[in-house]
Amino acid sequence: SLPVPNVQEMVKMNPLEVPTKYVRNEEEMEKVNYMPQLSSEIPFIDFTLLSNGSIEELLKLEVACKDWGFFQIVNHGVQKELIQRMKDAVDEFFKLPIEEKETYAMLSNDIQGYGQAYVVSEEQTLDWGDALILFIYPDQYRNLRFWPKTPHGFKEIIEAYSSEMKRVGEELLSSLSIIMGLEKHALVGLHKEFIQALRVNYYPPCNTPEQVLGMSSHSDTGTITLLMQDDDVSGLEIRNKGNWVPINPILLDAIVVNIGDVIEILSNGKFKSVEHRAVTNKNKRRTSNASFLLPQDDVEVEPFHHMIDAQHPKMYQKVKFGDYLRHSLKRKMEGKTHTDVAR
Ligand code: SIN
Ligand code: FE2
Repeated sequence: SLPVPNVQEMVKMNPLEVPTKYVRNEEEMEKVNYMPQLSSEIPFIDFTLLSNGSIEELLKLEVACKDWGFFQIVNHGVQKELIQRMKDAVDEFFKLPIEEKETYAMLSNDIQGYGQAYVVSEEQTLDWGDALILFIYPDQYRNLRFWPKTPHGFKEIIEAYSSEMKRVGEELLSSLSIIMGLEKHALVGLHKEFIQALRVNYYPPCNTPEQVLGMSSHSDTGTITLLMQDDDVSGLEIRNKGNWVPINPILLDAIVVNIGDVIEILSNGKFKSVEHRAVTNKNKRRTSNASFLLPQDDVEVEPFHHMIDAQHPKMYQKVKFGDYLRHSLKRKMEGKTHTDVAR
């Protein structure tokens, strides 16, 4: 990554200014396809019923993966108090003086740490946000040099929170295995040992939110992503049939889940890895915590045989996940998104 200004600091110094490097073109920001009225149609899934094998919830999950690529889960058993401690710790971390946060600064050849990942060219339009990215699992991938020492106890909170995201994520993969016509443990087995990464996002307010994006449109490269948003600040928008639909926070500590490119490929395109983005707000900062589950680099990803037939010809070639990841990061940096890199 190239070094870029810290957005939070920039806004603090000059709250009214929006440098041209952040201004998106009209095509990216067009409002005609903005469909907030569809928001309430994004499926809700009861995690407890799902884990107990409820056919009704499994069918809901299948519809969600086919039609939306996104769903919200409730009744997931993650303690309310733990979620709140995580959100509070994140808030406190971003309130630290810039000098202190920069001791965790991302290095140019890494994507772990504090800063902006994936900035590769001087011409690239920049995102209106800062992030902290950490590898969590397997344990030996952790680089504790980037794990903040303040606020006190943040490390333990991240560990407890991430372990819950792992529990929920793996259970969801069992359900996904079933709706893909596989044995319950198939997807977890295929990944050998999952990699889990955490990305904490901080989007400062923007004086002209209609000109910038907190995170530009992309699909997630991995298997699934579990996102926790603020209770009261919206910003996430997803693509649905050419429209942009916001996923508004609901006061149930819902976890927003989306299907990544790996599931799209394995399912031969039946389940969609949907493009999404984050918009900013004029007066409120927004934070979110995304937990990514990814396969190891050497895992080979290709459509399952039983998902290929005369009506559904094979849509993607076999690819090693590590190669796919590097290829798709490169495309994402060039402003292109899509699973068609594997086609
Ligand atoms: C993401 O795509 O990982 C972030 C979206 C958000 O902040 O809601
Ligand atoms: Fe994402």
